[in-house]
Amino acid sequence: VAQDIINNVKLKCCGIKVLYKNKQGITMCGIVGYIGFRDAYPILIQGLKRLEYRGYDSAGVALINNEGVMNVYKEKGKVSNLEALTSQRDISGQIGIAHTRWATHGEPSAINAHPHVSQSGRLALVHNGIIENYSNLKILLEKEGYTFKSSTDTEVLVQLIEYMQKKYDKSLENATIMALRMVVGAYAIAVIDKNCPDKIVVARKSSPLVIGIGADHKEFFIASDALPIVEYTKQMVYLNDNEVALLKIGKKIEINNLNYEDITPEVKEVNISLESLEKGGFEHFMLKEIYDQPRCMADCMRGRLLLNEKRIVLSTINMHRERLMKAERFIIVACGTSWHAGLIGKQLIEQWANIPVEVEYASEFRYRNPVISPDDVVIAISQSGETADTLAAFQLAKENKAMCFGIVNVVGSSIARASDTGIYIHVGPEIGVASTKAFTGQVTVLTLFALALGHERGTISKEEYESTIEELGNIPEKIKSVLAKDEEIKDIARSLTYAENALYMGRGFNYPVALEGALKLKEISYIHAEGYPAAEMKHGPIALIDENMPVVFVATHHQLYKKIISNIEEVKARNGRIIAVVTEGDEAVKEIAEATIEVPSTLASLAPLLSAIPLQLIAYHVAVEKGLNVDQPRNLAKSVTVE
Ligand code: F6R
Repeated sequence: VAQDIINNVKLKCCGIKVLYKNKQGITMCGIVGYIGFRDAYPILIQGLKRLEYRGYDSAGVALINNEGVMNVYKEKGKVSNLEALTSQRDISGQIGIAHTRWATHGEPSAINAHPHVSQSGRLALVHNGIIENYSNLKILLEKEGYTFKSSTDTEVLVQLIEYMQKKYDKSLENATIMALRMVVGAYAIAVIDKNCPDKIVVARKSSPLVIGIGADHKEFFIASDALPIVEYTKQMVYLNDNEVALLKIGKKIEINNLNYEDITPEVKEVNISLESLEKGGFEHFMLKEIYDQPRCMADCMRGRLLLNEKRIVLSTINMHRERLMKAERFIIVACGTSWHAGLIGKQLIEQWANIPVEVEYASEFRYRNPVISPDDVVIAISQSGETADTLAAFQLAKENKAMCFGIVNVVGSSIARASDTGIYIHVGPEIGVASTKAFTGQVTVLTLFALALGHERGTISKEEYESTIEELGNIPEKIKSVLAKDEEIKDIARSLTYAENALYMGRGFNYPVALEGALKLKEISYIHAEGYPAAEMKHGPIALIDENMPVVFVATHHQLYKKIISNIEEVKARNGRIIAVVTEGDEAVKEIAEATIEVPSTLASLAPLLSAIPLQLIAYHVAVEKGLNVDQPRNLAKSVTVE
């Protein structure tokens, strides 16, 4: 019957067919919800703050008070603006939903902010995603007398649910399913109905959504990730695509898919400590996360790097030895900083395991016709585990029967769940939008993996295997000694504050570090910066060099050291301003450079784990000096679930 109604609605009522093909197209907003016995507002506001890294163009909240009145407050800008708006207003209620937005459809404004409310004022809805066929649905609803206040796709969805609810006399959960069956696109949604204040309906397709379950099902929490929930409960259900859940006080979660089939919820215990979500005395999350790196590396290697036994144990290799051994090729797919980590991973795997590795921008890979064979292993690297392009590239690999190997930070994220196997980097929540500890965590995991694989395949000598293991064990302490130079680095960073451009150069293992240093500078200090392999300079970028061009060289003492000195000389000869990251005790570069930052000596293969740190600190201090929002740079969001 439901199918008939849907078909009827699709083809008759609207007179319009849904024209779009389904494709991955998602936004990056944060949603939070609560239903239970406590005041919802503080939980929602605190939750939004924890999710603000996902977007900060506008924020809003809807609450149903004890008299059954629904109050909706929305404000442009950050969550603090919403708080200011709600002071002195009625914020009572034990059920509510809230949203922090990264604008896709419609400019950032209070009107376009979520929650969106249905025509009768009965329903409110928050949404993370894109409804691709919203304009067709809007025409349908306009024909039925609906009018719209905002220019968003989300308002169309809440009206559509109300339309289904009224026209077919359906419960909120069934009306939601009916509406979602007509929707093409991506969504994580939460809907409340002021006529039924004992339930929240949530649904997911291609955008993340987590449900936290309180004791005896007396309360439920929902959020885009586990961060807003962990302080209340560790029992969580990660909703899967095409699932709709009914959260009703005192009752177990009921989940249906869009075909009305019952799904048994899989409850997981999630362990994230509360203090890992706080700044811990640092001025910014980014600085805290930079300083976290020695501990993160130790956590990442714990139980995997057995120093006393001089060996590496990775369960993924134990469990999938045969498949990994017969891999003919690795393809790494990633974006941004994770892609830079992939470039280092390529060098490590090729050097030690002697397997060819290609490193692809996930966004390019997914849209061409890449040759993928069942003997390939496709490695997706992603901090968030939610990056839309990386996830889609992974799905393409899966369709082509390649092994899907995830290197992910966020436990239970979409990429983690789509993986056949993989390795978590275990660096804890990364809140600053600019990735720092995730980068070193990814490089650490790739190092462990490449060493272990090389050892299994017999392509690395025992001496190199063991000496690299030993040196890996020293890296956390060596990172600490780089961090101890922070004041010095801050002084050097000051000289970049007024630069309009900067170049970053490195070679070998330090070439991806140069790319990463440039990315860090541009994303948080808004200074145009480019990274290059140093020898490429004379093929074009050298034309940019004059007395106003700062050039940051990563020139640690390794096999290409002499070559990079020649590159530094070339810049010097053209009056470029040289800042260099060098190995302790370096003399040659010191003589030429305006400023040098020393890092401890280490193996060439492990150099990125040390040389990346001063570049992170440079970017941080420049942004602070310029008075910019370090943790939430303009136009960016932490979880890039938009293609
Ligand atoms: C830069 C940064 C981004 C991310 C990229 C991929 O500091 O954070 O470039 O690296 O958006 O994100 P994940 O790793 O979550 O897939």
